[in-house]
Amino acid sequence: MKSTSRVQTQFLSAQDVTTLVTRLGLPAALNGIADYIKQDFLRWQDFDKCARVASHSAGGVIELMPISDAKTYAFKYVNGHPKNTHVGLPTVMAFGVLADVATGVPELLSELTLTTALRTAAMSVVAARALARPDSRRMALIGNGAQSEFQALAFHHLLGIQEIRLYDTDRAATSKLMRNLQHSGLRLVACASIAEAVRGSDIVTTVTADKTNATILTPALIEPGMHINGVGGDCPGKTELHADVLRGASVFVEYEPQTRIEGDLQHLPADFAVTELWQVLGGHATGRSSASQVTVFDSVGFALEDYSALRFMRDTALALGLGQSVSLIPELPNPKDLFSLVRPGIQELALAA
Ligand SMILES: NC(=O)c1ccc[n+]([C@@H]2O[C@H](COP(=O)([O-])OP(=O)(O)OC[C@H]3O[C@@H](n4cnc5c(N)ncnc54)[C@H](O)[C@@H]3O)[C@@H](O)[C@H]2O)c1
Repeated sequence: MKSTSRVQTQFLSAQDVTTLVTRLGLPAALNGIADYIKQDFLRWQDFDKCARVASHSAGGVIELMPISDAKTYAFKYVNGHPKNTHVGLPTVMAFGVLADVATGVPELLSELTLTTALRTAAMSVVAARALARPDSRRMALIGNGAQSEFQALAFHHLLGIQEIRLYDTDRAATSKLMRNLQHSGLRLVACASIAEAVRGSDIVTTVTADKTNATILTPALIEPGMHINGVGGDCPGKTELHADVLRGASVFVEYEPQTRIEGDLQHLPADFAVTELWQVLGGHATGRSSASQVTVFDSVGFALEDYSALRFMRDTALALGLGQSVSLIPELPNPKDLFSLVRPGIQELALAA
């Protein structure tokens, strides 16, 4: 006789993840996710990869990001709607799943809005550790919205950045960042223009949201030895860097087929040479080769980073006793008898008729 099938899924709510990060501390959470990302990038060949599936509309995009190795499947649902903040909603919202490849059982369902900001900042640092000058201390941060504090703190705690030069077209966003990070130990300088923020910076992070081909950085702003962490150009028709900034630099990407469609790279011909970051992390390709070289990380956000972040959240939640079990999948005495769930009600209806 078969036993009743009982599938339980671990659920991490937005509150659970907030508690997790608070209990662990933000630097430890960023560091932990960066470690998981690096471990997974070092076994790049184990993953079945594809560019994400995007559904575009006038105001934004909704994307599904699947990835799998032989044991675990993951996907993230994420949107990007730059005008959302005008109606009181975040630009980026997300959730995701880890599932068992052998059976298809969904093992974890988790919020990924806060987690996306953490994993994007952690990924930026994993790239910058390989690409920025090791003596980098000053960063420009263009775009001071939801992602920005996480970028600032990741670069401060994990990479040693001491001063951040800020610019946003919305002054209130910059003031919000300065309030949030006033006790962070960072020196924060609000600037009147992009050029003022970028001048003399070792690293430039662009993390703006606008559904347009913006030119946040032009070649005239780029100085020898800079590392550019381009985060906000992540969709067809939504970019931040002038094409000549890429032409004058060594360009590094997450997953080339996806970045060719979505990254700032979309402005360049298909044969423009780029290097996938896993190759640098694994020692198969050179990252920065001189102190004067300009490097660009053309970040778009790849499914493997969410796979890593979901793994980190699952492991840490278990260790801290956070989250709850939920029944996403019905409990069945006979797995072939799904109808048993509705049979009593249907029979009652038939009797009443
Ligand atoms: N690469 C990745 O992995 C990844 C992950 C998450 C988000 N993103 C992208 O990062 C960007 C920022 O996301 P967010 O959640 O912080 O959005 P947000 O809307 O909260 O903040 C964006 C900020 O950019 C500012 N901005 C817009 N145009 C500007 C300009 N020309 N110059 C200076 N500032 C400008 C806005 O005023 C706003 O404060 C989005 O484009 C998002 O799609 C990328």
